[in-house]
Amino acid sequence: MGFQKQGLMWLTGLLFLNILVLSMADDHHYEFFLQESQITKLCSTKNILTVNGSFPGPEIRVRRGDTVFVNVHNQANSSVSITWEGIEDSNNGSNQLIQPGRNFTYQIELDDEIGTLWWHATNAWASTTVHGAFVVLPAANEDYPFPAPDSDQTIIIGEWFRQELTEANQTMAAAQPDAYTINGHPGETNGCGNETTFEYQVDYQGLYIVRIINAVNETMEFGVASHSLTIIGQRGAYSRRSFTNSLTLAPHQVIDVLFCANQNVGHYYITARPSSDTTRSTTGILRYTTTST
Ligand SMILES: *[C@@H]1O[C@H](CO)[C@@H](O)[C@H](O)[C@H]1NC(C)=O
Ligand SMILES: *[C@@H]1O[C@H](CO)[C@@H](O)[C@H](O)[C@H]1NC(C)=O
Ligand SMILES: *[C@@H]1O[C@H](CO)[C@@H](O)[C@H](O)[C@H]1NC(C)=O
Ligand SMILES: *[C@@H]1O[C@H](CO)[C@@H](O)[C@H](O)[C@H]1NC(C)=O
Ligand SMILES: *[C@@H]1O[C@H](CO)[C@@H](O)[C@H](O)[C@H]1NC(C)=O
Ligand SMILES: *[C@@H]1O[C@H](CO)[C@@H](O)[C@H](O)[C@H]1NC(C)=O
Ligand SMILES: *[C@@H]1O[C@H](CO)[C@@H](O)[C@H](O)[C@H]1NC(C)=O
Repeated sequence: MGFQKQGLMWLTGLLFLNILVLSMADDHHYEFFLQESQITKLCSTKNILTVNGSFPGPEIRVRRGDTVFVNVHNQANSSVSITWEGIEDSNNGSNQLIQPGRNFTYQIELDDEIGTLWWHATNAWASTTVHGAFVVLPAANEDYPFPAPDSDQTIIIGEWFRQELTEANQTMAAAQPDAYTINGHPGETNGCGNETTFEYQVDYQGLYIVRIINAVNETMEFGVASHSLTIIGQRGAYSRRSFTNSLTLAPHQVIDVLFCANQNVGHYYITARPSSDTTRSTTGILRYTTTST
């Protein structure tokens, strides 16, 4: 009987907590303009589909339990729909093709999802450039189940094709791109002098969450020279913590890690490359800011 009573009290407490969390949830409104944009990479310029002209697209950043409205205005020439990867209540309009010149508002009710998710165009050809992070922070009254980070950084591993992709490209076969990218930057390894490199600035002894999204339909390896990573979350949930020197990300997988800038002040390579071909890497730079303390 005592057990039952305790159970009841526990349940009531849980319900109360739930109501507390629910009552603090917010609504967020995002406007996405899907458009053709001229982008130059690998020394040539082409038209790609983007959201608001950026590659990768804008980041959504909300809290656990919030509701997100994303009004997608299709100013491009092709019909497109958006997939909300890893969100349980994503049936809302996921099959809705938005015709050119029209708009549609996705309503996403977050429940227990926490950590990093992502969104992308449902079509394979469009999703190579139309994608972005969907970050779910703890609720306002909730702590991280690990030491609180100083800040966080999203890293999207992408790919770049010199040729124009069209509706004929229903799938993206492995090992086809002309370059891999980190947050849209091909890095210095592509024989094109004025290419841009992704740079991530950290403070010595700082603690960071790094959110790594593999937007490529290939298994990718990711690592930061001389630094170890602690896996903290996957698939919209916290995971059992484990240490690693490099991550293997399945196609379209997302992994959240904790990362401490605890090496000698300097700069270090950030590397992403396909598992199938270790010579085709893209690099970014981790740079310690030099503070005068
Ligand atoms: C996209 O661009 C529009 C128009 O400039 C702007 O109002 C909107 O806030 C932008 N959306 C995001 C997510 O940045
Ligand atoms: C790279 O730099 C050269 C020389 O400044 C310039 O002519 C060329 O247009 C640039 N290429 C790209 C892709 O920006
Ligand atoms: C999109 O349509 C406009 C108007 O019909 C046309 O001028 C433009 O070239 C098209 N763009 C692409 C990438 O097909
Ligand atoms: C989609 O949104 C509508 C309007 O808020 C809601 O009534 C409906 O339950 C949602 N559908 C799903 C599958 O969540
Ligand atoms: C289209 O956008 C307008 C304003 O930008 C908004 O009032 C309307 O609800 C949107 N329509 C749909 C179907 O989402
Ligand atoms: C895109 O489609 C064209 C035409 O079918 C094909 O030649 C090309 O290899 C495809 N590109 C990729 C990256 O799959
Ligand atoms: C991803 O790659 C696999 C194997 O190469 C292929 O069968 C599949 O169609 C691809 N999916 C997409 C969405 O491109």
